[in-house]
Amino acid sequence: MLELINPTRDLYLEFIDMVAEYQKHGESRLFDQNNLTLIQENFSAYIQYLENNSKGISLKPGFVPATTFWLVKQSKVILGESQLRHWLIPTLEHRGGHIGYMIRPLQRSKGYGTQILAMTLEKARNMGLSRVLLTCKQDNLASACIIQKNQGKLTSEEFLENSDTVISRYWIDL
Ligand SMILES: CC(C)(COP(=O)(O)OP(=O)(O)OC[C@H]1O[C@@H](n2cnc3c(N)ncnc32)[C@H](O)[C@@H]1OP(=O)(O)O)[C@@H](O)C(=O)NCCC(=O)NCCS
Repeated sequence: MLELINPTRDLYLEFIDMVAEYQKHGESRLFDQNNLTLIQENFSAYIQYLENNSKGISLKPGFVPATTFWLVKQSKVILGESQLRHWLIPTLEHRGGHIGYMIRPLQRSKGYGTQILAMTLEKARNMGLSRVLLTCKQDNLASACIIQKNQGKLTSEEFLENSDTVISRYWIDL
């Protein structure tokens, strides 16, 4: 039983367990350092921060409203999270796009990445978007596969000198 839910204080212990799993696998970089501190010191404030981001309250300069979702199994296991940015700005058109997602290390290669994107696309559709941009590093084969399985159409690729990487951009019609 999979659901894409809004973050909730009720899953505090499960969330902490997931963060520890990312840390153990050397993937703390997937979390903003300031957020990690907030998560550990004041989880309620972290949830409030996510709610504010979704409502466009107290956004960081240059950020657009973005809604975070958790992919949850049987109402208690957090498998991953996605973020839906409500509209594009030039920086996001360049890199980032409308949607980002991650699946916790021990739950990968089970199809959850494909599902979290499919379920986040449904949220985007319900929000009134008619198409969404996704970007990923060309060598992130799992992510490219997830996007293509969700009908992503490759529209451009660009070498980014500052990060020595090729970024692929895909559009998905909703
Ligand atoms: C990218 C990520 C979300 C994939 O999640 P996942 O749950 O493993 O994805 P899925 O199980 O749905 O796999 C999708 C496809 O990628 C393939 N795949 C998975 N890992 C792969 C790898 N290392 N190399 C090549 N293909 C891979 C799978 O075989 C699957 O294809 P299939 O359905 O044809 O078999 C996960 O690795 C992750 O969270 N990475 C860190 C954050 C990240 O990179 N986010 C995306 C930013 S653009």
